[in-house]
Amino acid sequence: MNRKITKVISLMAVFGCVAIAFTSCEKRDANSPGVEFMPDMYRSPSLESNMAYVKIENGKETGDTLQANRMPVAGTIARGYMPYTYPNTAEGYEAAGANLHNPLENNAANLKEGEELYGKFCVHCHGAGGEADGLVAGKLPGPPPAYSTLKNLPEGKMFHTITYGKGLMGAHAPLLSQEERWKVVLYIHKLQFPNGKPTASDSAAVAKPAAPVK
Ligand code: HEC
Repeated sequence: MNRKITKVISLMAVFGCVAIAFTSCEKRDANSPGVEFMPDMYRSPSLESNMAYVKIENGKETGDTLQANRMPVAGTIARGYMPYTYPNTAEGYEAAGANLHNPLENNAANLKEGEELYGKFCVHCHGAGGEADGLVAGKLPGPPPAYSTLKNLPEGKMFHTITYGKGLMGAHAPLLSQEERWKVVLYIHKLQFPNGKPTASDSAAVAKPAAPVK
């Protein structure tokens, strides 16, 4: 055989043995990706939402596991969410009755939505006309009051009761937004006063002295 070829073959055999020796020494981990070229292509250095990560300080893992999502700053209010500050107590009920007023305009669109919500969430107990004759009312150990008997109930107290519930009536805050609750209050007033509720501004207008004539 040509000496040159023999030399090449023996060199290849030596390299092969060295390569086998190196690779076989290493215990192969089925999950190891081996040598990675530019690992940040596979493992994004940025944090994904909801993931937990180990805090790194001065290039060293601190051992503290943190959540990628930070808690909002104390006092943060979610967009579109209005906190309800009256507590679920007898005092909160009275305070709501004294201070809380419907911020919505009593117009056809709001009333229509109030009627729809009432039909979904209230009618089975309170009845279509608010006379406490809904399908469920008779099954309750204590039926709800007819709205016609609650004409003096301040709207703030109504809102408070719809928010937290009262007696056998459950809380509706998880089901209806504040705006939706106020729309239902408008509709209850419509049931109580089909010809229009005498408003505080009506009585204020009556009580207001006439402008002085110049
Ligand atoms: C499971 C039946 C039930 C449902 C559903 C229900 N209510 Fe009531 N509701 C009652 C009962 C019972 C009472 C009497 C509570 C009491 O005074 O102990 C009541 C009381 C009320 C009062 C009087 C509150 C007060 O402060 O005295 C209002 C106003 C009212 N409900 C509105 C609503 C509205 C609006 C809905 C729908 C969003 C609704 N209710 C859904 C059973 C129900």
